[in-house]
Amino acid sequence: MTSSSTIKAAPTVMGESASVSRQRRGSVLVVTIDHAPVNALNAAVRRGLIDAIEAADTDAAVRAVLIVGVGRNFIAGADIREFGKPAVPPSLPDVCNRVEACAKPVIAAIHGAALGGGLEVALAAHYRIAFEGAKLGLPEVQLGLLPGAGGTQRTPRLIGAAAALSLILSGRHVGAQEAQRMGLVDRVGVSDDVLAEALAYAHELIATQAVARRTKDAAALADKAASTAAIAAARAETQKKSRGLLSPMKIVDCVEAAVNLPFDEGLRIERQQFLECRESPQRAGLVHAFFAEREAQKAPETRDAKARALRSVGVIGGGTMGAGIAVALLDAGLLVTMIERDDDSLQRGRAHMEKVYDGLIEKGRFTLDAKSRAFEHFNGSTAYDALADTDLVIEAVFEDMAVKKAVFAELDRVCKPGAVLATNTSYLDIDELAASISRPQDVLGLHFFSPANIMKLLEIVVPERVSGDVVATAFELAKRLKKVAVRAGVCDGFIGNRMLAVYRSAADQLMEEGASPYQIDQAIREFGFPMGPYQVIDLAGGDIGWAARKRRAATRDPRARYVRIGDLLCERGWFGQKTARGYYRYDDGARIGKPDPEVEAIIDAERARAGITPRTFDHGQIVRRYLAAMINEGANIVHEGIALRPLDVDATLMHGFGFPRHRGGPMHYADSVGLDAVLADIREFAKEDPLFWRASPLLIELVESGKNFASLNQAA
Ligand code: 3HC
Ligand code: NAI
Repeated sequence: MTSSSTIKAAPTVMGESASVSRQRRGSVLVVTIDHAPVNALNAAVRRGLIDAIEAADTDAAVRAVLIVGVGRNFIAGADIREFGKPAVPPSLPDVCNRVEACAKPVIAAIHGAALGGGLEVALAAHYRIAFEGAKLGLPEVQLGLLPGAGGTQRTPRLIGAAAALSLILSGRHVGAQEAQRMGLVDRVGVSDDVLAEALAYAHELIATQAVARRTKDAAALADKAASTAAIAAARAETQKKSRGLLSPMKIVDCVEAAVNLPFDEGLRIERQQFLECRESPQRAGLVHAFFAEREAQKAPETRDAKARALRSVGVIGGGTMGAGIAVALLDAGLLVTMIERDDDSLQRGRAHMEKVYDGLIEKGRFTLDAKSRAFEHFNGSTAYDALADTDLVIEAVFEDMAVKKAVFAELDRVCKPGAVLATNTSYLDIDELAASISRPQDVLGLHFFSPANIMKLLEIVVPERVSGDVVATAFELAKRLKKVAVRAGVCDGFIGNRMLAVYRSAADQLMEEGASPYQIDQAIREFGFPMGPYQVIDLAGGDIGWAARKRRAATRDPRARYVRIGDLLCERGWFGQKTARGYYRYDDGARIGKPDPEVEAIIDAERARAGITPRTFDHGQIVRRYLAAMINEGANIVHEGIALRPLDVDATLMHGFGFPRHRGGPMHYADSVGLDAVLADIREFAKEDPLFWRASPLLIELVESGKNFASLNQAA
């Protein structure tokens, strides 16, 4: 039995809803949920489940009820698409209560996902059998919610407060075996035939006169002292870890109610807390994030195209990116050949990879054994001919068009026809690179983010002449690498880096006008980013941006305001953590920097030089400017077709740039504060610097027509 096991639809009979059918098999009423793609609990399924239980209770021939899901999953949870719309009865808590109240034993047969409301239905059933490949969990917290159909009350009663809190606060999935060890399920199914084995289990329960055993009466909370200690520990941990999030603390409160109050009272509190979460902007942001990262995978070029075969990959260059990309590819089970300029560079490339693995081993996320197994699929060479049979090549050499063209000429010479040729360039014109060889249809951008084996984002940059199946292959690669792929068009910086350049400028201007880098970082962290912009620069190395600024100096608009503070730090060799000084000081190898009075003195001198009298900014003002710059550039990027939809911008910023997920990305956030308010801010800022603060034509158009970014998400 594997996770790909499926259950076929049962024939429907009169009186049933289209998505829940009932069929008597001996004395067992088999209730089959059939709501593609994942059996989410929409109104019809909820109604169908209640009807089925009513039917079972009134039919004397029925002695047990078996609930199964059609397709690859049991039930993936509440129907997320219903959130934000008017509620349609029956509610899911009513469904679960009705299932639990059934006078006859109800058995849940779990294969594939039993998540959220899906697990809550299973917990309301009286017996549970889970099959290999099953995924059980209460992931509501990841959507800004809490289990709202008895999950916070039944789970602790069944498996204890500590285990329940860990499951619900993490949102993690557990497999069938672990679920049995935890006491979440009674039995692990071993057969490939889910229905047959679950039916046999149901008949066994009937034969042994098993009763309708209700989870609400389970006794795992009997040790009150242990439960109270678990609550206190979870509360302290949540305070530390889930700063700014609404639902985690509410989860702790609900489980505490399960420990201290009668079941019905606990359910009432859970419902109230669930509804508060459901109506919150955090829930809206997180559900938007969920759909955005799935929608982003659907590029128009791939609609009628089939991915090319993908087994072996070449990586050119073993520097920071090449090494990280090679590790990511090996992790996905692909064969990797790395090409470097000479033997020494190749050795360094391999050493970079070793360092990546050693870092993972140190953190306990990898083993020495797995590292040596990974290298069995790795091969290094200084001769391009080693790539003759490779399916796809990713170039990650210096950011220099002439160097990259020379590499692509070699690839054109040696690679087999149909090999996909990708560049990891951050900024260069991929159309120009593609046009420099004889097969532009095979060329596209695969823009990874550093560290490439960790960062989830992969920008798939689609040049004009690339063929659809090459784009499809890139999306397939992203899936194999478990990355969130976003389609981007060709421009300087694509989606992410182009936006970064603009909002960093906004931060620099704020700094020059009076805010300290430390204050800006703090304001941005308070908004929800894991780090502020100056911490990020110190971490990545200030020299990278400095080199890019020098490269662009000649083409910069001479009228544009230029803040020199970053350059002044770099001129002193203060590149950030790696030199122990940047915007912050990192004395004695510290990873967390301290504010540096010398940096503040440099900033003061620059303000004086530019004739600026420093002003004070509060955190709200800092965030408004930073976000307005980000949103405005995002709008330009959508307007120019570089991003297909606003949601592609959101997925990019959330997965590559630390934008807080619960705010749904900059474009969703803009909708939530109102586009007219964002435009008013930009117009206000433009009074001081009209060149930098030019409102995007798309933003103006949307405000004038009373629309928002969400209205564009369906379009492409
Ligand atoms: N509601 C509505 N649609 C859903 C859904 C849900 N709960 N879960 C998945 N879908 C949709 C996806 O949007 C996608 O639609 P698309 O084909 O139009 O893009 C389709 O189902 C397939 O989803 P995936 O691409 O994610 O398929 P996978 O096979 O990779 O994963 C899954 C399947 C593990 C079930 C995954 O979809 C998942 O984790 N879903 C969310 C589960 C979840 O969070 N459940 C809790 C909901 S909240 C709740 O239950 C509240 C309750 O306590 C009251
Ligand atoms: P790096 O300088 O660390 O590595 C470049 C490597 O390419 C060196 O090991 C060098 O020996 C090798 N190389 C140079 N010319 C070569 C040739 N002709 N044949 C074979 N190997 C050659 O650079 P890094 O940071 O890894 O960047 C590589 C590319 O990735 C650049 O295009 C960069 O813009 C892009 N990129 C960088 C990111 C970063 O955070 N560093 C993020 C995303 C993209």
